Amino acid sequence: MPDIKQQLQQLQQDEASLTLAERFAVEPRRFQQLSFMLGQDWLADFSKQAISPQALQLLCQWAKEQQLDCQLSQLFKDNCLNNTEQRAVLHTALRMPANAELNHDGENVIPNVHRVLAKMRDFCQQVHSGQWRGASGKTITQVVNLGIGGSDLGPAMVVKALRPYQHQDITAHFVSNMDGADLAAVLDKVDAERTLFVVSSKTFTTSETLTNAHSAKQWLLEQLAIKGSTQCQHAVARHFVAVSTNLAAVAEFGIAPANCFEFWDWVGGRFSLWSAVGLSIALAVGFAHFEQLLAGAHQVDEHLQHTPFEQNVPVLLALVSHWNTHYLKLNSETVFPYSQDLALFPDFLQQLAMESNGKSVDKEGSPVTEVTSPLVWGAVGTNGQHAFFQLFHQGSHQVAADFIGVVQASHSLPHHQNKLLANLFAQTEALAFGRSHAQVEQGLRDNGQSADTIARLAPYKVMEGNRASTTLLCRQLTPANLGALIALYEHKTIILGLLWNINSFDQWGVELGKQLAVPIAKELTAQQGSEQHDSSTNGLIKQACLWQTSG
Ligand code: F6P
Repeated sequence: MPDIKQQLQQLQQDEASLTLAERFAVEPRRFQQLSFMLGQDWLADFSKQAISPQALQLLCQWAKEQQLDCQLSQLFKDNCLNNTEQRAVLHTALRMPANAELNHDGENVIPNVHRVLAKMRDFCQQVHSGQWRGASGKTITQVVNLGIGGSDLGPAMVVKALRPYQHQDITAHFVSNMDGADLAAVLDKVDAERTLFVVSSKTFTTSETLTNAHSAKQWLLEQLAIKGSTQCQHAVARHFVAVSTNLAAVAEFGIAPANCFEFWDWVGGRFSLWSAVGLSIALAVGFAHFEQLLAGAHQVDEHLQHTPFEQNVPVLLALVSHWNTHYLKLNSETVFPYSQDLALFPDFLQQLAMESNGKSVDKEGSPVTEVTSPLVWGAVGTNGQHAFFQLFHQGSHQVAADFIGVVQASHSLPHHQNKLLANLFAQTEALAFGRSHAQVEQGLRDNGQSADTIARLAPYKVMEGNRASTTLLCRQLTPANLGALIALYEHKTIILGLLWNINSFDQWGVELGKQLAVPIAKELTAQQGSEQHDSSTNGLIKQACLWQTSG
């Protein structure tokens, strides 16, 4: 009897010539068999994927054989899943109710989680009520989050997504880039007397964030015409708060412990928006909505733990992705939210998926033998349709695609929502079923075209179809449903890492570039290149030095 992987391989070969159109023709219950509800408000439709119910069943068996259920249960108890950094992975604790218990290093972490949540609630209440004031006595109306990677992408994405829930008195801004143009553009817009900076950094050593934080502090002191260290301390205390695991570095920056919102090393940066890293979210949309976000994610945690793999949406999302990557050899995975509110979701997902699973060494330190994370990218619909969808429909590459639709609009403008949804459904239909030569010819004939024109144009208009996609359909983008969506993709990412036996929680690959930038920055500041790099890098540094001084 061949093992499950061999059976899957065989099935893939047997089904390779079967188009999606043929699958739908012979499987009248395909949609019912391959679409699943997640709670009351999410529907996941895998029926337009190039996979049979039998293959999905086998993948579930394979996951069971890999003891995925046992591995997943680690996420909800003390563990050392981040083996290279000797850290636990416990971000699910951040969305557990106050009466839950999760012990780590002999201590229940839940009371600490809720202690920080209470501090966040209290702080939001003070800011929103006007009790918290800037150094000159004015209320706060602008919040500027300074952070990068996980300390920026999640909160920025959520704040944009929950625009309809925005607190009426607060505008939130996000600054991440080392390029001063990012900070300068925001500083141009805000009033120093009414601005609160949230310096968000797990390590509080990240060059981009600290550079921005120091510049913001300098700017604030100048704007408020602060002189003397007492005045300076007072101004920083009213206009700066920090979110970090590194309380010593926060203190060194000049932010008092009372203004620091802590989290813990068992929260990975890209899984941290549920922690105090979500302070900017809570300030922007209100703490009650932040709590609903947590509750929505917690519901998915419950679904993950208590649903058989065959109906378990995050597990199925991961298994379909594995099928596409490993068996169908698709190396690009795209995501298209048909919701302007979710415009930043692809950016968030890129870090989540590629920083987590862009690895080629397994948990035992050996090279991995099979491919890991595909390239992950995407854009908001319908914009993508007018940019690069041409390649999807008629290009020579095939990509995996997730379409995300939201049925109830977050605005009251008539005439938009049905057109938007129609475009989403039409794209998945066009990708799957295309347009045959005969259909194209008929269309041209119906348009009254001549036989010559039909013969000339038909080949260009044929769409072969058979391009697979998943559709995730949501009733309405409430805070809870957004929390569910994020948790869904978090779990998908983690499941893939577990099945591929890689550590999804470290990111050594980003370190080398950061280290090399340090001496290069010194050379640029001294306006003196050196000969210590390769000829290309030496040449680029010298040219930059030349242009820096040439006016
Ligand atoms: O660049 C890697 C990284 O460590 C990410 O994993 C992280 O989200 C980001 O930098 C920011 O890190 P920090 O929150 O410590 O500033």
